[in-house]
Amino acid sequence: MRLDKFLAHMGFGTRREVKGLVKSKAIQVNDVAVKDSSMHVNELTDQVTVYGEIVEYKEFIYLMMNKPAGVISATEDSRDQTVIDLLDDDVRHFEPYPVGRLDKDTVGLLLLTNDGALTHRLLSPNKDVPKVYFAQVEGIVNEADIEAFKVGVTLDDGYHTKPGLLRIISSGPISEIELTITEGKFHQVKRMFEAVGKKVVYLKRLSMGSLKLDESLPEGTYRELTEEELELIQ
Ligand code: URA
Repeated sequence: MRLDKFLAHMGFGTRREVKGLVKSKAIQVNDVAVKDSSMHVNELTDQVTVYGEIVEYKEFIYLMMNKPAGVISATEDSRDQTVIDLLDDDVRHFEPYPVGRLDKDTVGLLLLTNDGALTHRLLSPNKDVPKVYFAQVEGIVNEADIEAFKVGVTLDDGYHTKPGLLRIISSGPISEIELTITEGKFHQVKRMFEAVGKKVVYLKRLSMGSLKLDESLPEGTYRELTEEELELIQ
């Protein structure tokens, strides 16, 4: 790949800015000062340094965010703050985007990446990737709801959902539950409860496939996936 593309991807500024670095002799490839920022490098085998520091090429980035409420799962928005606005510059240049959407008021696990193939695998409807949610629900959630979710419920638009696995943690005026679903229709969890006459008042995603929310991540923060986590979702 072109050296300027390589360095722009790795966060060294625009191609124009990389040109400036070349001009000031900041860049070497295999210990030779670079004269032309359009030269080609092999990102796997060539050693690229900027001001003497080796730049290890990385194509993809995988971030786990504990999404806070009040922020939308999109890359840009004219009104609201987005999850991308919460990212630092040192990861933004990889151009990550959220894998699927959580509602503005939903918190919890959100994966951000620039890996299109992984995104496709996780979101593809026929892959049935299970997603586990914790919710607080107004009204007494009961056995009948478990049975209804087991065979799927009919949403307000007539769509009949795939089965959901409902586990009641506590039942009362505000019940606490865990729900596992394999789809990602718009407002799905909220609408599934509406279908049985109840209202979700708090929603948090706990997992997506084998990837679990790291509960030690404060809301609004993120970190890169560990090697082990990455293997779990590949
Ligand atoms: N279901 C919902 O209703 N909202 C979400 O954010 C995710 C799943």
